[in-house]
Amino acid sequence: MLITFEGIDGAGKSTQVKKLKKHLTEKGHEVLTLREPGGTIVAEKIRDLLLESKHEITPVGELLLFSASRAELVQNVIMPELERNKVVILDRFYDSTTAYQGYGRGLDLQVLERINSISSFGLEPDLTFFLDISPEDALIRKFSEKSIPLAFEENELDRMESSGLAFYQKVRNGYLKLAESNKRFVLLNASEKPHDIHSQIVAKLNAMT
Ligand code: TMP
Repeated sequence: MLITFEGIDGAGKSTQVKKLKKHLTEKGHEVLTLREPGGTIVAEKIRDLLLESKHEITPVGELLLFSASRAELVQNVIMPELERNKVVILDRFYDSTTAYQGYGRGLDLQVLERINSISSFGLEPDLTFFLDISPEDALIRKFSEKSIPLAFEENELDRMESSGLAFYQKVRNGYLKLAESNKRFVLLNASEKPHDIHSQIVAKLNAMT
């Protein structure tokens, strides 16, 4: 089973990924958690390039780098682990590409659909939890996580996080459109308490099995 988590930066995905892993492991499942971009040596190098680099990257270059990282992870790790019947929980998958590079950067959505299908070898998540939060609230959360005072230096943020509130608003709207049109999406209010969000995730999974 492949479960993905999506949302803008600061939505609290990694907390929910950890909680769900613990829950499913206690229920006797073999669980593997991964994040995108990353998860193989090559994909981690691409992650550094994408996030740490202070050099500008063109939107198309960015799209292809995220996609290259995904192809490495899917073929080398995700597909073999799914074949071994593991539950794979992914912190971001190709819906991030649609939301960030499509709705955020304005790249053609049909082209993205094709590239997403190529980079994931046609693999589709069974369930996608979308943690929805306003960019303003997410930013406040991000700052408190990184212990950065609100009067910040821009270089405290990674390359994607430096894209600004207007960009994040477009990304959020993109996610909302995806959630509306995809049955596998479960929309969750990320401003609620982490424990309550986790309970809703567990309830959804229980209803499915
Ligand atoms: P994260 O691992 O902290 O979520 O950081 C990954 C960043 O990369 C985040 O800002 C979202 C962005 N991203 C894209 O823009 N497109 C993608 O396809 C993926 C997987 C991530």
